[in-house]
Amino acid sequence: MLLAVLMSLIAGFFAPPQAPASPSTTAGALDYEFFKARVQPIFLNKKPGNARCYVCHRGSGGTQYLQLLSPGATSWDEEQSRKNFESVKRFVVPGAPTRSRLLMHPLTEEAGGDEFHGGGRHWTSQQNAEWQTLAAWVRGETAK
Ligand code: HEC
Repeated sequence: MLLAVLMSLIAGFFAPPQAPASPSTTAGALDYEFFKARVQPIFLNKKPGNARCYVCHRGSGGTQYLQLLSPGATSWDEEQSRKNFESVKRFVVPGAPTRSRLLMHPLTEEAGGDEFHGGGRHWTSQQNAEWQTLAAWVRGETAK
């Protein structure tokens, strides 16, 4: 018994150290720079027949996950972008675009979207360019 414990201690001592997971393959890694450069503009895009995400989701609390733009600004500054990143993460399951509410809420049901979005359907297909960009971010793609 004691010998077995000693043996396992010795084996552990000589075992090679675990290689640290490389950042690019770690599940759950959402890239901030990709978010800032590619995802954020989607929230400000005006699409025919739909209000911008920003119009309904700016402010704080509940589903208000976007920071208010500074007067005159057409995009968010560094601090605001960080805050957006943190709050948008709540609606995302890293690695799983189709389980992420950020992607499934504004997608039509025929295209696989969920049952209801108070803000309407913004994408009619998962091939939509905006949808594809969001999906790439959720899958962990990094800014180039
Ligand atoms: C006209 C207003 C409006 C617009 C425009 C709008 N939304 Fe919404 N959104 C809502 C409302 C209201 C809710 C809360 C009710 C619900 O869950 O559908 C909501 C909920 C959500 C949620 C879910 C929050 C939760 O608690 O699960 C997500 C994610 C979301 N919207 C993303 C978006 C995205 C992305 C866009 C732009 C492509 C967008 N919305 C555009 C009104 C809007």
